[in-house]
Amino acid sequence: MKWRKSTGLVPSAPTRGPTAPGTLARVSEHGIVPTTVPEERTADAYLRLSAHLLLESERRNVHTIGVLSAVPGEGKTTAAINLVACLGRARGRRGRALLVDGDGRRRTLSRLMADGREGPRTKPMLVATSFENVDFLSAPAPESGPTIHTPSAWTETLTALAARYPQVVVDCPSVLEDPEGVVLRECVDALVVVVRAGSTTRGMLRRAIGRAADRVAGVIVNGARTSRVAPVGATL
Ligand SMILES: Nc1ncnc2c1ncn2[C@@H]1O[C@H](COP(=O)(O)OP(=O)(O)O)[C@@H](O)[C@H]1O
Ligand SMILES: [Mg+2]
Repeated sequence: MKWRKSTGLVPSAPTRGPTAPGTLARVSEHGIVPTTVPEERTADAYLRLSAHLLLESERRNVHTIGVLSAVPGEGKTTAAINLVACLGRARGRRGRALLVDGDGRRRTLSRLMADGREGPRTKPMLVATSFENVDFLSAPAPESGPTIHTPSAWTETLTALAARYPQVVVDCPSVLEDPEGVVLRECVDALVVVVRAGSTTRGMLRRAIGRAADRVAGVIVNGARTSRVAPVGATL
């Protein structure tokens, strides 16, 4: 059975300050923290996607959600934070949500959320975050020389995490840049695909999804111009 998909249009034009569109988080001296006054349309888009995922996960026993896109800069990491922040704030859910840095080459989240803490960088580190009910698992610093993980290694790790966390959101690598993204895409229960308005082509989107179309639970159109923002949550 195919997923019903949820589309969220997220506005662009990042401004400095507490209500920057497109993101529910900001970088501070303490790492990534929630924005004090979340921009309403962005929050609604991600709450809608969270509602969709929570509903579908209760129906289908889905725990691990990969956020992926074709190339860097389309907004995967931003989307993964926004999504897990909203999942963590869902009232009535059991347990905590987990954000995983699955992009071991770039380590955007790990650098901001874990590298300042004590502990060896060569191992994944599990830390609490400033987001309500959200923990974070860092990616270890890359080994020298090219390497990827096997699908069974990812599946084993994600299964162990899903036993502790009802929702695990994985910030995946760009599928067209890093072969690890191709592996990870196959190992999560559901996918949220991020496209950048005005730059992601149909061909890129097709290659980003590959043969996983039946596991795409949501599409985020990132950087939509305010004038073009339509009601979010339209079913594809
Ligand atoms: N909706 C948005 N509006 C404006 N800027 C955004 C939006 N989403 C992401 N960005 C910015 O775009 C850049 C790339 O985003 P990022 O999430 O790191 O992409 P990726 O993980 O796909 O490489 C970051 O500087 C981020 O702050
Ligand atoms: Mg990223």
